[in-house]
Amino acid sequence: MDALTYEQYKECAGYVKARIGGATPEIALILGSGLGDFADRIEDPVTIDYRDIPHFLVSTVAFHAGKLIFGKVGGKQVLCMAGRFHHYEGYRFQQLTLPIRLFKLLGVRATILTNAVGAVNESYRVGDIMIIKDHIKLTGESPLAGPNIDEFGPRFFDVQDMYTASLRKIAWNCAEGSGLNFREGVYMYFTGPQFETPAEIRAARILGADAVGMSTVPEALTAAHCSMKLLGLSVISNMAAGVVPDIKLSNDEVVEAAGLIAERFGKYVERVIEAI
Ligand code: HPA
Repeated sequence: MDALTYEQYKECAGYVKARIGGATPEIALILGSGLGDFADRIEDPVTIDYRDIPHFLVSTVAFHAGKLIFGKVGGKQVLCMAGRFHHYEGYRFQQLTLPIRLFKLLGVRATILTNAVGAVNESYRVGDIMIIKDHIKLTGESPLAGPNIDEFGPRFFDVQDMYTASLRKIAWNCAEGSGLNFREGVYMYFTGPQFETPAEIRAARILGADAVGMSTVPEALTAAHCSMKLLGLSVISNMAAGVVPDIKLSNDEVVEAAGLIAERFGKYVERVIEAI
């Protein structure tokens, strides 16, 4: 299966709209590895299983739940995806447009993407939060390749303000008192599922990357295409391959590191939502 047609995206959104009583969520969130606890902060939740939504995908990664949760956070109506889709699961890049286009059709005005990353920048520390300023993607394919759906955006589109400057400013304004250490940097996309080689990480550093990850970029490009405001927040879960000697990279380590700051990070994201 490739990308959906506009009609299919609308069927998908129509189902979700009916399940949330016709409401218009203001902010959407996609939760990254080990950050799923955030869903517990949602008041009066309406939970929708991905498998019940027409044309939706299913999440195959064990620690990604596979639920859409609608409710209130920070006084705002929020739609939250607990469980995201990745290219390494076998999905085509074009299929990864689905969540953002669903949000767009539901009337969401800003999306927050969270993820876990490996630090390339040697001054970063595990547990730091990186506000994504820009990204590098050298893998050939784009989620926007194929027939353009003009209802979402133009064939060729500008990505210079993909990680919306006004939202990054809000993210900085909320940082004080959060008990977290903040950075702002460049995310470099690798498809995974293997972690990178030390040589790839050295190359990433030379190219200007501060951190590496296996998600976010397909969603960010889809958001830019449909003029959706976007904030990307990365939890540094490990130093990337070869940055510090003798460290084994594993998913357990990623989830554990994200878990250690999950409570503070959840509170922080709630403040950001309130401020948007
Ligand atoms: N590389 C790629 N993706 C990641 C990493 C990493 O080191 N850590 C968490 N996600």
